[in-house]
Amino acid sequence: MKQEMMEIVQQKQLAPKIFEMTLKGDLVKEMQQPGQFLHILVPRADLLLRRPISLNHIDHETNTCRIIYRVEGEGTSVFSTLSAGDYLDVMGPLGNGFDLSDLHTGDEVFIIGGGIGVPPLYELSKQLVKKGIKPTHFLGFATHEVVYYEKEFNRLGETRIATDDGTYGMHGNVGNLLLGTKTKPTAVFACGSNGLLKTVEQLFSSHQNVQLSLESRMACGIGACYACVCHTPEDETGTKSVKVCDEGPIFKIGEVII
Ligand code: FES
Repeated sequence: MKQEMMEIVQQKQLAPKIFEMTLKGDLVKEMQQPGQFLHILVPRADLLLRRPISLNHIDHETNTCRIIYRVEGEGTSVFSTLSAGDYLDVMGPLGNGFDLSDLHTGDEVFIIGGGIGVPPLYELSKQLVKKGIKPTHFLGFATHEVVYYEKEFNRLGETRIATDDGTYGMHGNVGNLLLGTKTKPTAVFACGSNGLLKTVEQLFSSHQNVQLSLESRMACGIGACYACVCHTPEDETGTKSVKVCDEGPIFKIGEVII
């Protein structure tokens, strides 16, 4: 993990409150694993806590990376006002990424995401396709106007979309999309709300390789403050909790209580 003032080379709005930002700097050399995140300082003196934002795309050739975030509070609201040529104080890459080591050419995997859980799955899918693995994407959004990255995922593999209100794709959540599938995937990767992750847990409870990316509030981002603790099934005494920032954010199914 390192820290750098990274240059913003592009910022564009993808949907209401959803922004894509491209950053440039030597820190990109450290970025390898899909599912890791950056911890970014808000350039405003009264906002002391960094904001954790997952990596959406890593490009070692141009020394750039992309993040996608939703404006949810003052910090992300400040990010959305920045433009090319501005700099951000970035720490990272942090956390453990998705583990692709058990996968081989020809394997078929499911990639499942919802809302602002979708961005890290793009870098994941890219790296899987590079290994000759075939992904099918199942993406859920609240409504048509907040659907983003459908084209990008389509370029990598079959992509099915659901919206909660039925304004685009299948009416319902990603659970509805998954119920109709017959393929037995080699691995399942998911990122999104706890509701989405619970659905994935239920549907693939006996599967050997299910990896879930948890969302959590964070402060330090490096395992020092315990702001991001979540519980494990053996946690009755409170001694076996885990920290999402440095022990996650990716966990195997059953490792943590969602
Ligand atoms: Fe401080 Fe995880 S955010 S321990």
